[in-house]
Amino acid sequence: MSRTEELARLDLEHLFHPSTDLKGHGQSGPLIWDRGEGVYIQDTEGRRYLEGMAGLWCTALGYGEKELARVAAEQMEKFCYGPLFAGKSNEPSIRLAAKLSEWVPIEGARFLFGCSGSDANDTQVKLMRYYHNAIGKPEKKKILSRGNGYHGVTLASAALTGLPAFHKHFDLPGDDVIHLTAPHHYRQAEPGESEEEFSQRLADELEQIIEREGGDTIAAFIAEPLMAAGGVIPPPAGYFERIQPILAEHDILFIADEVVCGFGRTGHDFGCQTWNITAHTMTMAKALSSAYLPISAVAVPPFMYEAIEEAAGGIGMFAHGLTYAGHPVAAAVAVRNLELMEERGVMAHAARMGQYMESRLAPLADHELVGNLRGKGLIAGLELVADKATGTAFAPEKKMAFKAAAACLDEGLVVRALPGDTIAICPPLIIEEGQVDELVEKLRRGLDRVR
Ligand SMILES: Cc1ncc(COP(=O)(O)O)c(C=O)c1O
Repeated sequence: MSRTEELARLDLEHLFHPSTDLKGHGQSGPLIWDRGEGVYIQDTEGRRYLEGMAGLWCTALGYGEKELARVAAEQMEKFCYGPLFAGKSNEPSIRLAAKLSEWVPIEGARFLFGCSGSDANDTQVKLMRYYHNAIGKPEKKKILSRGNGYHGVTLASAALTGLPAFHKHFDLPGDDVIHLTAPHHYRQAEPGESEEEFSQRLADELEQIIEREGGDTIAAFIAEPLMAAGGVIPPPAGYFERIQPILAEHDILFIADEVVCGFGRTGHDFGCQTWNITAHTMTMAKALSSAYLPISAVAVPPFMYEAIEEAAGGIGMFAHGLTYAGHPVAAAVAVRNLELMEERGVMAHAARMGQYMESRLAPLADHELVGNLRGKGLIAGLELVADKATGTAFAPEKKMAFKAAAACLDEGLVVRALPGDTIAICPPLIIEEGQVDELVEKLRRGLDRVR
């Protein structure tokens, strides 16, 4: 039995795969990754692929970055673990918080660390409750989210997520989260409705919902600047410009979920800068460590921190925190990751490559399978349709995006099939021009095979 066969057998016997078609997996078995270098990864059979999804939108600096491996090993040997509880600290966490304060556009923010985007968004919900209790507004608790938004899978973050599969059988989303219409112009706009008109309609909907629920019951609005897992959906023109003043009028705080957009994905350090969003708090993960180790962060502004500090004083402690919050090895890797981004000019490179990828992908909008091509910078989505002229979707059981993703894999390219028959592309930020050409060529060949 080959190593691949042995591993496949053990996988099918013992692993419970997350976010997987479990029955389908039982029949097809796993594709087992083995190693990676730059923007390429290899499976256990030695086949090489261009990683067009940066793992799960996360391996920003690509694979095999020795600097990050060195820093992790050194930190493990020096001091592998120490909690931040009870006022204890460690140098990597201190340095990471200080470094983030240089990057994050929230004046005077403090940083609360976690291990994943999901737990960080869970923390966001808890902080919203804590803060509003602290300032004497205990009724201000609901959170506004959007259809197609993806914010994670813990109970609170899955409730924020606006995708039915993440709710069904989990008894979610519950009553505290209100989902607004997805800002998805291609699928949600009325015939002939311009992006600006569509944005106005969504702003009107927001006002109606606030009116219905009462602004004094709504704590916050959470949004990915560009929706990733829900279908790679950039905001329609004028959307955030219209939404933000309405939120401000009702003292509804803006939580920016920068888990995918953060650190250069859309051509700026943060998606908030790409779309002129002034966020009160921010969630970060993924590219924060280029996925070399799990770490997330919530940016908390001074006005929230001060109120929470005061209220926690009455209890004796701020009773929230994960064992691995501020894990020194993960934090050391994140610090070095951000330093490497600075030293190597990765933000400027990603902005250039983003424009290049947009220009190289543009002709694929004419492909007969592609109903809508969208994205910004180094993230793109191609929505596949049965009829290009009318935008008629394929029957879901055809699983067209899955078939197209499988065909791309055969061509040596990793892409991802998202709900709504959308193929997602999100390569490591270090991708070079020639590799963008290779990605687009393989993608075209993959699409041609399933048309
Ligand atoms: C925007 C966004 N928020 C939150 C999450 C959840 O992060 P994690 O999978 O690390 O829990 C994700 C994951 O893809 C995400 O895309």
